[in-house]
Amino acid sequence: MNYRHAYHAGNFADVVKHAVLARVLTHLRDKPAAFRVIDTHAGAGVYDLSGIEAGKTLEWRDGIDRLIGADLDQPARALLAPYLDAVAALNPAGALTAYPGSPALTQALLRPQDRLIACELEPQAAAALSNRLRGDARAKAVAIDGWTALTAYVPPKERRGLVLVDPPFEQPGELSRLTQALAAAHRKWPTGCYLLWYPIKDTTEVASFVRKLSRLAIAKTLRIELILATSTEDKGLRGTGLIAVNPPWRLYEELESLLPALGNILSRGAACRTTLSWLTGEITT
Ligand SMILES: C[S@@+](CC[C@H](N)C(=O)[O-])C[C@H]1O[C@@H](n2cnc3c(N)ncnc32)[C@H](O)[C@@H]1O
Repeated sequence: MNYRHAYHAGNFADVVKHAVLARVLTHLRDKPAAFRVIDTHAGAGVYDLSGIEAGKTLEWRDGIDRLIGADLDQPARALLAPYLDAVAALNPAGALTAYPGSPALTQALLRPQDRLIACELEPQAAAALSNRLRGDARAKAVAIDGWTALTAYVPPKERRGLVLVDPPFEQPGELSRLTQALAAAHRKWPTGCYLLWYPIKDTTEVASFVRKLSRLAIAKTLRIELILATSTEDKGLRGTGLIAVNPPWRLYEELESLLPALGNILSRGAACRTTLSWLTGEITT
């Protein structure tokens, strides 16, 4: 396990993932019934943007820093408020030095009746996560394999909530693993909401992943992608993708405006490609 999210925290992919995560959680809060979030690959919780790792890549400058400095229109600002408020709460002095990963962002949006289980296997990140969540009776950090947790923890006793699967993609075949994990979890808990992240480096590989997901024939599977306008010689992360299963019903409509707005900001107005489509039914923008 070599992956360290501290190098990438707050980058353009985190911005899209966390903006969508915050919208899903905001909708889960619409009803008074408790919900549970299962974060299978949670990371360290909070990241120091002035630290050595973030300083080496400065990826956050092209992500969260750009978003915070952007001139957002009122509808986009309102949709991003839960996310941006959580970022602001971590940076009370104003300057951006800390960034909330998925468990810290979730924690900011939990109500007293809601719960979070956050799994992290890498020892340093697991210790940081455990420190972060200690003392919050709503949240629990567990140092176990997230893939195992996925099958072990669904369905949650609340029968409402979200499973976030955000692996590091260090090993070949992780896209297939993601498809199989979704199929198994969905069989156990068909009404749960799932959010799966995937990197876009090679569009052929992504097309094959999407085909396999489509074959699962899970109703209400939304594909959300943003591909930056980078040269094809660039073998790095060109784009970011999310699969949302059973998303809150207003998410599609919100992302119709929010995704292109994020694309404009994160690609500095250069052409970027966004996709918002149902895998069953194919509604594409
Ligand atoms: C992309 S990062 C997670 C970022 C986090 N979800 C966020 O949005 O802030 C992936 C994390 O998974 C951890 N990890 C790798 N293999 C794991 C496994 N089998 N089970 C749980 N965590 C794992 C890595 O150490 C890393 O912290």
